[in-house]
Amino acid sequence: MEEIITELSANVLRVQLNRPSKKNAMTLAMYAALAEELDRADKNDEVRVVLVHGAGDSFTAGNDIADFVSHPPGPGDSPQVRFLDALIRFSKPLVAAVHGFAVGGGTTMLLHFDFVYAAESARFQVPFINLALVPELASSYTMPTQLGYLRAAEMILLGEPCSAARANEFGLVTAVVPDQNVWEKAAEVAMKLAGKPAEALRSCKKLIKAPEQDSLRQAVSRELSEFAVRVQSAEAKEAFAAFLGKRKPDYSKAKAS
Ligand code: COA
Repeated sequence: MEEIITELSANVLRVQLNRPSKKNAMTLAMYAALAEELDRADKNDEVRVVLVHGAGDSFTAGNDIADFVSHPPGPGDSPQVRFLDALIRFSKPLVAAVHGFAVGGGTTMLLHFDFVYAAESARFQVPFINLALVPELASSYTMPTQLGYLRAAEMILLGEPCSAARANEFGLVTAVVPDQNVWEKAAEVAMKLAGKPAEALRSCKKLIKAPEQDSLRQAVSRELSEFAVRVQSAEAKEAFAAFLGKRKPDYSKAKAS
């Protein structure tokens, strides 16, 4: 089964995260495929807008935790880094239709999007602290910048889920839509964007993103170094084993390595 499904119609590229039995948790192969799709879409004049959504009952539960154990990302190149780079340099509008769980990367990728429509029942969470990790996909920068420090601190340091209504109040989403209308609303906006003058649209996006670019790149490099250490820590190993073993973590045994 293809875990990333794409379909181009009326200048809108629909990208579906398709691993519903695992809440669309993203594997290395999925990150790599997403990076390639975005890079290809950026170069293809037929694509004017990209619309991302999840299959099944969720957007995505973030990075596959088993992959953190088998392939812990280092500070250098990785499929996650390729995906992040592709998101940062993507020059056309990115629209998301979010339903169900948007956890970890499922929330942090949205901070690179231009329009985010959330179903009323959507739940957003950055549970890095619960996995003894640190923020990823540049969210150590994008979250405080976009939401404000106190809101970012609440989400990152407590790591609790937040409702669509609260995500809206926080400025994490563009609008909250009744569950049955979220796809329709996101698709309608994507179509509207596809009808705009494409070159001017790219220039607009470039200009409004430009002020943040240097700081964003510096944050990515800090984050990657820190994440590479944390993901191999005794605390993180215990957190991953607990998740995969469906039990509560016991950090009293997690000695500094
Ligand atoms: N990595 C690997 N597998 C994951 C996953 C992830 N990030 N998220 C969910 N899954 C798997 C579960 O292990 C389960 O697999 P199984 O049926 O083989 O046991 C399946 O997806 C369904 O998830 P489950 O936990 O049973 O669903 P739920 O409705 O009770 O809870 C979540 C949904 C999203 C709240 C919960 O799965 C979760 O917290 N996932 C981890 C999210 C996370 O920490 N991501 C951040 C990584 S940085």
